[in-house]
Amino acid sequence: MQSLVALSASSSFRSAGIRSFASSAARAQAVPTEKPVLSKEFKIYRWNPDEPATKPTLQSYTIDLNQCGPMILDALIKIKNEIDPTLTFRRSCREGICGSCAMNINGQNTLACLCRIDRETPKDTKIYPLPSLYVVKDLVPDLTLFYKQYKSIEPYLKNDNPPADREFLQSPEDRRKLDGMYECILCACCSSSCPSYWWNQDEYLGPATLMAAYRWMADSRDTYTAQRREKMQNTMSMYRCHTIFNCSRTCPKGLNPAQAIAKMKLELASE
Ligand code: SF4
Ligand code: FES
Repeated sequence: MQSLVALSASSSFRSAGIRSFASSAARAQAVPTEKPVLSKEFKIYRWNPDEPATKPTLQSYTIDLNQCGPMILDALIKIKNEIDPTLTFRRSCREGICGSCAMNINGQNTLACLCRIDRETPKDTKIYPLPSLYVVKDLVPDLTLFYKQYKSIEPYLKNDNPPADREFLQSPEDRRKLDGMYECILCACCSSSCPSYWWNQDEYLGPATLMAAYRWMADSRDTYTAQRREKMQNTMSMYRCHTIFNCSRTCPKGLNPAQAIAKMKLELASE
């Protein structure tokens, strides 16, 4: 009998618990979840190669930040999907790995997918393609020369006597010498922020390519260091770097191409 009472008490407790959960769930559902509209204006560089006589313009788009992801790339995708499908930009990984979405945002070269939208200020956000490069369309820069320069430094391991029966070995100390250089994603933010590169890019290799060149000089497994250094012994390829440091300030991956170039200059000077 006692256990029956206990059973009925516990079942009424359970049903009360379920009722209170159900009513609190209903209350939660009744609370409006709509956030107020938070408008933000984006002014974006537009240029269409199919209309070469029309000068580039800044086109204005306003979106509700409460209906958008937190990054500039989210805003660009929202504008393209919902307002203007003709807006053109590059993107792929959405997480700072591919380097495709490099552009100039409020005066700074950076990756749109790693750059947060400034929600605090009503001020507009201005977005341009990377400076000093030819424009293919809208926010897409022409990177043909950039990649050609990268290719020219032979960015791969060169060794005429590879071990016959196993992989190349490298000490942890030698491996550490590559840290801060191998992480480069070739986004070109640094090179296109460099005044020396703006004026001399037909001959000066620019910070991204120079850091890649030093990355292979510093690799203990590579036996072409002398030849790689020889390629830099002219007035233009490397010595147009005047240690302005824009490259290191702007790198969205936190790398330091200016330091790599300085080390390369030191090693060449001590030969
Ligand atoms: S050094 Fe930095 S800014 Fe320059 S290409 Fe590499 S990742 Fe981009
Ligand atoms: S989309 Fe790949 S780095 Fe931004």
